[in-house]
Amino acid sequence: CGIVGYVGTQQALDVVLAGLRRLEYRGYDSAGVAVQTPAGDLDLAKKAGKLANLEKELAEHPLAEGTVGIGHTRWATHGGPTDANAHPHTGAAGRVAVVHNGIIENFARLRAELAERGRQFSSETDTETVAHLLAEAVEAQQAAGTEVDLAEAMRGVCRQLEGAFTLVATHADAPGVVVGARRNSPLVVGVGEGEYFLASDVAAFIEHTREAVELGQDQVVELSREGVAVTDFHGEPGEVREYHVDWDASAAEKGGYDYFMLKEIAEQPKAVADTLLGRIDAEGRLTLDELRIDDSVLREVDKVVIVACGTAFHAGLIAKYAIEHWARIPCEVEVASEFRYRDPIMDQQTLVIAISQSGETMDTLMALRHAREQGAKVLAICNTNGSTIPRESDAVLYTHAGPEVAVASTKAFLTQLVACYLVALYLGQVRGTKWGDEIFEVIRQLADAPKQVEQVLETMEPVRELARSLADAPAVLFLGRHVGYPVALEGALKLKELAYMHAEGFAAGELKHGPIALIEEGLPVVVVVPSPRGRSVLHDKIVSNIQEIRARGAKTLVIAEEGDEAVVPYADHLVRIPATPTLLQPLVATVPLQVFACELATAKGHEVDQPRNLAKSVTVE
Ligand code: G6P
Repeated sequence: CGIVGYVGTQQALDVVLAGLRRLEYRGYDSAGVAVQTPAGDLDLAKKAGKLANLEKELAEHPLAEGTVGIGHTRWATHGGPTDANAHPHTGAAGRVAVVHNGIIENFARLRAELAERGRQFSSETDTETVAHLLAEAVEAQQAAGTEVDLAEAMRGVCRQLEGAFTLVATHADAPGVVVGARRNSPLVVGVGEGEYFLASDVAAFIEHTREAVELGQDQVVELSREGVAVTDFHGEPGEVREYHVDWDASAAEKGGYDYFMLKEIAEQPKAVADTLLGRIDAEGRLTLDELRIDDSVLREVDKVVIVACGTAFHAGLIAKYAIEHWARIPCEVEVASEFRYRDPIMDQQTLVIAISQSGETMDTLMALRHAREQGAKVLAICNTNGSTIPRESDAVLYTHAGPEVAVASTKAFLTQLVACYLVALYLGQVRGTKWGDEIFEVIRQLADAPKQVEQVLETMEPVRELARSLADAPAVLFLGRHVGYPVALEGALKLKELAYMHAEGFAAGELKHGPIALIEEGLPVVVVVPSPRGRSVLHDKIVSNIQEIRARGAKTLVIAEEGDEAVVPYADHLVRIPATPTLLQPLVATVPLQVFACELATAKGHEVDQPRNLAKSVTVE
């Protein structure tokens, strides 16, 4: 979910809606806003569906003016995406409004207790429970004759809550005040001139200020015209980190493209170049001084475990090949949501790598916490400065993709690959393994990647045409070997996410053990072909696999290196990519698959940036 709060001099509704637009990628099942009115009340509107529905409602029924407000865009957890379940939630006859991201695990018990005390509920959400608790706490202050202190009321409520939450609230009897609280879920403060912001991420307020304050775990923040006050849940002053956001506002805008995804695909050469920048020295060696793990610790590592979700997991699968080949350390890769529940074996010599674009994915965060409890060292590969995952890791290597807004990840994926290659090569470098001409050559080739990605992007028109022609295909299969296998998985994931099509990725050699039964006349099968140079045995095997499926009627869409003539007779469609060393091929081979999925989804009339049921950063387990 995306959350915004504002206290200042501008019309709060305008600021909050603009912020929500920037956060809509975090969820778009419903949206809502509340503002404090000059008459000393709250005015509120909420609507199921995308933000546009709410905006339409507001155009028909405008809210009162006011300079204090909050807003929310939802990814549904408790209760379906209806108007009633949309945030903000109120208690006490609309005097308080609360928005929330996360899950309150003990809400059923709290709700039952509130109901016993006579409180009436109008939604199925865990959030409404918080609204009633907050209303009760303020009523208790009023009954005791003390001045309303909303932050104190929020602290009292937070002490009763279990689970993960970001909460932002405002109360008609606390004029000029917005409070926020966080546990395990993101919330940042924006500090402007005489105006203050709260948001799930900085994108919501960078057009107003680039000065930010990152809240710590279990903290409550109070915004008023006088400034920002941060405490822990017991009222003790809280420690925070102030930072300057170096993204500019335009980075979070479409800049002439129809969709963010198209813009982000096009930005990949720069994203890759920025992620390499400053990390290769004049002698062609890697300099990763920014890692906060000492080389002596890295030398002792005897096992690497990678945890991640979704697209980041696919980057991890590719990293395994690189780490085992270049650094000669055994490496496991696991989806983060499975990891901690199977009691994995780790110790001080285990290096856990957590890969996450957002740095907020709850499954990944919980996996890394479990790893640290077992004594493992955790290295985060992350795109979002100041987010929770890097903050809780021993070390971090940032990808420099810039803000990624489209839900389906593209440029972040390519930069995750670059970061994984850098880590694999660096582990090889500090451990002295395989550090010879081959590695220098690889680093040189890696430096060429931005140019090669650019080259692929320039030749994508036939891929778009092909995608449009396949809009009615019942399914698409993707095959690969070696690092081409995770690329096939990623190609299939993109198509599921964007085109809602049945799409599966397989290891090409595994096909004959079952999935080949799926092949029927005309079924499109994308095949990612490894380089015929280097490990040519892989190449030859996949050429046989292409023949096997073609003989059974498949329509073959072959992605192969320039100059690879062996595939030509068996390719119904051939997509050329530049020659790269085998391990680096995913950097160029993934790009046509992104373009393919994006174009096919557009041809089907789907909303590319905001696919149904998904959210970009999922902060629940
Ligand atoms: C969500 C998104 C995916 C993404 C995954 C991991 O499920 O829809 O596109 O790959 O989270 O996100 P992260 O921010 O941890 O990379």
